[in-house]
Amino acid sequence: MNEKVSLKGRSLLRLDDLSDAEIFHLLDLAAEFKRQKHAGIRGNSLRRKNIALIFEKSSTRTRCSFTVAAQDEGGQAEYLGTHDIHFGKKESIADTARVLGRMFDGIAFRGFKQDTVEALARYSGIPVWNGLTDDWHPTQILADLMTIREHFGVLKGLKVVYIGDGRNNVANTLMVGCARAGMHFVDCTPAELSPPADLCRETAKVAAAHGGSVTVSTDPHEAVKGANVLYTDVWVSMGEEDKFAERVALLRPYQINMDLMRRTGNLENGKAIFLHCLPAFHDYKTELTHEIGPLEVTDDVFEAPFSKVFDEAENRVHTIKAVMVASLA
Ligand code: CP
Ligand code: NVA
Repeated sequence: MNEKVSLKGRSLLRLDDLSDAEIFHLLDLAAEFKRQKHAGIRGNSLRRKNIALIFEKSSTRTRCSFTVAAQDEGGQAEYLGTHDIHFGKKESIADTARVLGRMFDGIAFRGFKQDTVEALARYSGIPVWNGLTDDWHPTQILADLMTIREHFGVLKGLKVVYIGDGRNNVANTLMVGCARAGMHFVDCTPAELSPPADLCRETAKVAAAHGGSVTVSTDPHEAVKGANVLYTDVWVSMGEEDKFAERVALLRPYQINMDLMRRTGNLENGKAIFLHCLPAFHDYKTELTHEIGPLEVTDDVFEAPFSKVFDEAENRVHTIKAVMVASLA
């Protein structure tokens, strides 16, 4: 590991826990892990390490990435759904954290409150990694930056436009990540779903210091001009299911479709890609959407060659492996 960068013993609760050098170190380490995995090489840098996965919300990619990454490097992961353990019910979060801290080497947490993941880190005494809270999704954005860099070779100077629910965990964290990487980030969302003003102010300052920018727009046609990345997420995040009808009505004009992709002006020259953290409502077959069609992205965009969503999903495992190894090895 680079001498200036040491994440040993540290948690990742939000992207701002990392310095610029640490973010880029993790991206480099993840790229090396990807190269090794594709070459059939398995490591042992998590040998004898036990990882607890405490999940309050559902997950495919994040849960599997922590499990596979641990196993690839000789470690063990134990899934603890919060319905299976006493977490916050018969036992306080602080007590569960202290117990797990005596047994495990690291904890991945997915859930509702950011305070919960912070409490886990405070009381367990071992590294804790945020696998999504209502506020932040740091491991997702590391995979997104990795995917963008893989495609374009650089991050600095690229234009990323996030379109949809502009104040959710993914939008907030992407804003931070793009600012730190010196990119031009636009959060395109209706006024009702604007990101927090203080976050916009802070990230705009950070972006400017890195040669980039952060702006908010309500106009998708204007926002996407010159974009290299169009990014969206579900319109209704976990825990907000009662807002489904209201969100669909509000966000219909913010759907990413071929017309919007073409309006980047970068589709024909191969300088525009589509990203989505997944899961995505892109077709008519999904149970929830069978009567109302695709939501945040159309099927032709989702399935197009410029859609890099499965590279992005794969990169979850490489970046999460980098985070765990940097914290524990
Ligand atoms: N992108 C993401 O976090 O996916 P999961 O909800 O499947 O973990
Ligand atoms: N914003 C979404 C992300 C899912 C990976 C949610 O919180 O449900």
